[in-house]
Amino acid sequence: MAYPVRVEKPNPVFAGLLQQAIGGIEGEIRVMLQYLFQAWGFRGPMKYRDMLYNTGTEEIGHIEMLATAVALNLEGAPTQMQEEVVAQNPVVGAIMGGMNPRHVISTALAATAEDSNGNPFNGSWVVATGNLASDMYANVTAETSGRLLVTRLWEWTDDPGMKDTLSFLIARDTMHQNQWLAVIEELQQPLPVPSDFTNEHQQFSYQYFVQSTAPIPENARFAQGSSIDGKGEFSTVAAKPLGSIPTLAPAPAENHSLVLPKNGSAGPDVVSKQKKEVFGIVEQFTRTYARVNTFYPGIVILTLLTAGAHFYLGMQPDEELHTWFLLNGLGYLILLAAFVLPPFTAVHAMTRWILLGYTALTILLWIFLGSPKEGKLDPFDVLVKSVEIFLLLFLFLDWRVDSKQRS
Ligand SMILES: [Fe+2]
Repeated sequence: MAYPVRVEKPNPVFAGLLQQAIGGIEGEIRVMLQYLFQAWGFRGPMKYRDMLYNTGTEEIGHIEMLATAVALNLEGAPTQMQEEVVAQNPVVGAIMGGMNPRHVISTALAATAEDSNGNPFNGSWVVATGNLASDMYANVTAETSGRLLVTRLWEWTDDPGMKDTLSFLIARDTMHQNQWLAVIEELQQPLPVPSDFTNEHQQFSYQYFVQSTAPIPENARFAQGSSIDGKGEFSTVAAKPLGSIPTLAPAPAENHSLVLPKNGSAGPDVVSKQKKEVFGIVEQFTRTYARVNTFYPGIVILTLLTAGAHFYLGMQPDEELHTWFLLNGLGYLILLAAFVLPPFTAVHAMTRWILLGYTALTILLWIFLGSPKEGKLDPFDVLVKSVEIFLLLFLFLDWRVDSKQRS
């Protein structure tokens, strides 16, 4: 035995509480397996592997001590004593409702690999990452929760023998917290874990995101000064969404997850794939044509005027470039149709940019190829170019309104 285990007044209810220190998440099985698994997979300096073996083995002894304490608390405990304990400690009585039945029916008055609620020990609590810094921080956390638990158990018992036994375990947890912290102190660069990854978005690495309107105290260390890892400077940033609202695709029909609200008030996010597509087109169409009273009439009229002017030029018999003018006018009509007609809603925004570029190109080609004729500007040309410049302006303003509405 690692240290004497004494129980002067057996108490089966306390035996149930002690189970948490054996098979609970804060318990000795957890730290024993954690340190041993860390040792079995260890690939660093041998002194740390040996240390993990040493302490993992020590924890086996702690399990033995606590299992013995459970058994001694169950030994010869008269039923009326259980009732007395429950009567004296109404909270324990209410929570525990008496002793753990498995101590009687399954183990013949012995400990189990379970916590105080009878949940079996869970191996997924064991942390062994293969990163020494990460494991050491996990070990410190394990020892802090373990020490907390045992101090609470110490408070719950008035048995001098139990208090003595638990005091030893509390002292060992003090050592182990210090031991793991000492390893961290020896590491060249423990933080952030892992310290060798450099591809993060570093602009966010030391920002304290504030999600509320509550003021940040001036001396709040977490929001100012150099960062704890020594690699940055803390700053305070009012949090804002960096992403947009997620749109999830509908679940496959065989999942039977489609439930529509009455009166067709469903948003596009709760309908089946087919209906979602229809809703999507309707929604986009509504968004596109809701502003028909703003820049749309202007865009339509200006485009028709420009197209008409180019058709007119294309029909002049003495015009060398007449085919090009006709094609140019046709291009305007096609783009205008794609911009305003419902079947092309999906490419509406892109069409706006193409029409904008097409108009700008027309102006540029005129500057290089068509103007000025014999030293002075043709008034008709000036009129057409003015119309085109207004068209550019209207398309740009329409884009601005559209992008504002989208955001
Ligand atoms: Fe321990």
